Amino acid sequence: MPSSADFGFASLCWGLVGLYLLHAVYNLYFHPLRSFPGPVYCKVTGFWYIFKIIRGNSFLEIKHLHDIYGDVVRIAPNELSYNTAEAWNSIYGRNIQLHGETKTSAIGNRLLKDTLLYGAGFEGADTVVNAEGTFYAPQRRALAYAFTRKSLMAKEHILTHYTDRAIENLTTQISATDTVDVGPMFANAIFDFNCKFVADRDIGASNPHGTLHPSVHYFDNILRFAYIPITLRRLPMVAYLQDTLQPLFSKGLLHYHVVGPLIRNRLENGGISYMERHPKEGDTGKSQILNNAAIFIAAGTGTTVGWLCASVYYILSNPDVKSKIYDEIRNSASKGSDLSLDVVSSMKYLKAVTDESIRIFPPIVATLTRVVPRGGVSICGKYVPQGTVVGVNHWATYRSAKNFNHPDEFHPERWFDVVSEEFAEDHRNALQPFSYGPRKCIAQEYLRLASMNSKLFLARLFWEFDMELAPESRDWTNQKGFIAHYKPPLMVKFNKRSGLFETET
Ligand code: HEM
Repeated sequence: MPSSADFGFASLCWGLVGLYLLHAVYNLYFHPLRSFPGPVYCKVTGFWYIFKIIRGNSFLEIKHLHDIYGDVVRIAPNELSYNTAEAWNSIYGRNIQLHGETKTSAIGNRLLKDTLLYGAGFEGADTVVNAEGTFYAPQRRALAYAFTRKSLMAKEHILTHYTDRAIENLTTQISATDTVDVGPMFANAIFDFNCKFVADRDIGASNPHGTLHPSVHYFDNILRFAYIPITLRRLPMVAYLQDTLQPLFSKGLLHYHVVGPLIRNRLENGGISYMERHPKEGDTGKSQILNNAAIFIAAGTGTTVGWLCASVYYILSNPDVKSKIYDEIRNSASKGSDLSLDVVSSMKYLKAVTDESIRIFPPIVATLTRVVPRGGVSICGKYVPQGTVVGVNHWATYRSAKNFNHPDEFHPERWFDVVSEEFAEDHRNALQPFSYGPRKCIAQEYLRLASMNSKLFLARLFWEFDMELAPESRDWTNQKGFIAHYKPPLMVKFNKRSGLFETET
């Protein structure tokens, strides 16, 4: 016979099921987002979305839902996904259309970052990525100093130095084996450059054995695994628990490995002038600089490497593109070392190829969400109530046939100044891989550091080596994605360009 405890437990379970069902009915028929299109399983519960994110295929699923439901889809009870050029402006732009109030806060008419995604500050020191309002503006102004034309042009020799070093190491590596995973090669070189750029320290990650530097590996894992606890924050109790426990963990996140001690050492011996212009006082100020420096290094490495790998993969997979890129690069300079930023910036085909690579395989695939403020806003002409989480999904937008003709095919010519009829209807403004508006990527806003880096590296590589995609990497694009793709090895067969040694000497 069941005891009264059993009976109590069963009642509790049934009570919870009943509450859940009531909530589901509310979400479906009475929720302020009820009129937005989407599948029932997304409207009633957030579990589907959380599950897809954890499995690493949410970006593919969201794209699929946009194909079925159109430009806006309710992907979770309180969340809308968009995939149009107009949505970039409505959600991430400066002058959003507010209902009710005229200003969200001191920062003006702009949607704020979703705190569930961006979390609380590291050690209470809001960083340039997650801070808002008066905590944010002075940081962005101070950091922007590093990206002025003068600062960046003064760093060209650093960029060239690390590209040279990577090419030398690759040359040594291919004397032992002609097929190389280009991921670690790019990652080590970009990491070296970023450490030098940010903290003026030489880490020496680039090596002739093709081994990935442990700190790069560590940052890769943060990008992958941090997204899962972040996703779980959508469940109310988890967010509460994480916020309570955060002080125990956050300290380790960015201070770990070589980068933390490296920046601390730099701070103790002269500091990082542009980061120290408007810091907070005392320990919080130090943490802020430390975190911002680590963010610069981490944010700038994985993303740039993703772009470089995608470019190499698509060039080598398309014989016509490959022969055009070789022609342009090899006809632009008689020596690899003549490939300066100026020369590379004038290469029109290379630009079209890198633009098309970042469209077809963007380094960031997730949705970087914002929250609708009090009074609600108008997004793409339709009222969206306050508190709704909104965002443009990179992958779904760039792979949409409404935005780009033949979206799953690689066509650099769609980015030419004069475009053929085939691509005349493309919505070029839909492509915003560095985001849009006042919180777009700091590295791309001013002198386009991220693209200069990538183009110089690619130009040097294609100038120096004959390259072929190894058969085992033909399916390389079949990847899981969290915030970024989780990249498998990209194996490329290298041969030093024939006759090169004679030319160089
Ligand atoms: C291919 C390379 C890159 C891509 C695709 C990329 C993409 C992005 C995107 C989409 C955002 C917006 C994030 C958001 O809405 O929260 C962003 C912000 C940011 N990126 Fe990048 N990024 C790249 C390279 C870099 C580099 C090289 C650096 C630094 C050296 C950098 C530093 C930052 C910082 C500090 C922010 C925060 C800006 C703010 O909120 O004011 N990124 N990036």
